[in-house]
Amino acid sequence: MDKILVHGGKSLEGDVRIGGSKNSALPILAATLLTKEKCVIDRVPDLSDIHYMLTILSSLGAEVERASGVVQIRAEKIITEAPYEIVRKMRASVCILGPLLGREKSAKVSLPGGCVIGDRPIDLHLKGFEALGAKVTVKGGDIFLHADKLKGARINLRGRHGPTVLGTGNIMMAAVLAEGTTVIEGAAEEPEVVDLARFLTAMGGRISGAGTQHIEIEGVAELHGANHTVIPDRIEAGTFLVAGAIAGTRVTITRTEPEHLGAVIHALKEAGFNLSHTSDTVTISPNGARKPLHLETIPYPGFPTDMQAQFCAMLATMNGTSVVTETVFPQRFMHVAELKRMGANIELIDHHATIHGVERLSGAPVMASDLRASAALVLAALPADGVTEINRVYHIDRGYEAIDEKLNGLGAHIERVKAK
Ligand code: UD1
Repeated sequence: MDKILVHGGKSLEGDVRIGGSKNSALPILAATLLTKEKCVIDRVPDLSDIHYMLTILSSLGAEVERASGVVQIRAEKIITEAPYEIVRKMRASVCILGPLLGREKSAKVSLPGGCVIGDRPIDLHLKGFEALGAKVTVKGGDIFLHADKLKGARINLRGRHGPTVLGTGNIMMAAVLAEGTTVIEGAAEEPEVVDLARFLTAMGGRISGAGTQHIEIEGVAELHGANHTVIPDRIEAGTFLVAGAIAGTRVTITRTEPEHLGAVIHALKEAGFNLSHTSDTVTISPNGARKPLHLETIPYPGFPTDMQAQFCAMLATMNGTSVVTETVFPQRFMHVAELKRMGANIELIDHHATIHGVERLSGAPVMASDLRASAALVLAALPADGVTEINRVYHIDRGYEAIDEKLNGLGAHIERVKAK
């Protein structure tokens, strides 16, 4: 298994280009199953999660061609079964359920299983499919969906922890080929949902309200091929802003969408950093005294749970006491134990982390546990004394395109040690 060695203490300065959004690309790639015609998706990031999705699409019968960031998919004939060996590697494989049900009125897909950030149920997805008229059965670890026909319905997708992002996408993808009108209440407002709705609209779908809690989908008989460019990854962007905050003199992220970063930019300003932006860049530079934060993760447009771990890393080295509350995935604190190995002073009670900033962290061997937790460890290592050895970096490669090379481009000293 590859590992990463971060030699701490280097100062970061310069520009870094942000890639296409993983969380946008995954359901958009799945949505290409909705038509027999060719779709061309641009700015698809080169990540292992994307590779898994393309493997799933191929296994279902789609022809997939990939050249740098452009993926061409033609799903002329497809099968509707995706076995465990194929879907188990990535939870987001659940987003093939909506398109398979929409197009073929049938799907048999293995449940992808839990992951370290919580048990991650898909009850809301299944509730939505049932409301559209599908019979849902879960047996032997597989989900079976079947409908003679799908009929538009009024569905509330708000769960105990708020709206569901992939659930909203899944129901949109099924409803777009249903008879009549579907109304989703309590829909997720994330930019990735809006991007998917744009792609579905380009394919001939009729969707309004994406980006609000109320989405209406008027079913059509069929969809056609379309071209689409994926939005920039707001979590990669936020992660590099935090890198700039932790270890930078001036870091500019380019080819980004500042509007999607509102809550992150607000929190960084509140912590005392200086931020400025143009239409597609954001620059961060230190600005005198830093201030501790009281942060709570909230669905978009609130502060993203996918940035929580990175902020914990930053706050661990800032004077004062900060409190970080996780409301979306209450168990998502795997990074805390590893940050403590580096000398962080953090108390964890339920879903609240109280972080007492320390002067310096020190390099240590640590273990990447999930995608964003791993990114947090890389960030924490940037200003730390000595060398931090991060194991299991395949977690980082799931969601960050060459994070080591990009940080080195800004002046960091990171080595990747390839597995023998
Ligand atoms: C997506 C993102 C992930 C991000 C998350 C929240 C992708 C590929 N992943 O995940 O990076 O952290 O949104 O912004 O886009 N829930 C239920 N029942 C369900 C579905 C979800 O109770 O059927 C709960 C979850 O356990 C969680 C909350 O709802 O507590 C939000 O989860 P959800 O928005 O569905 O996350 P994902 O779409 O899986």
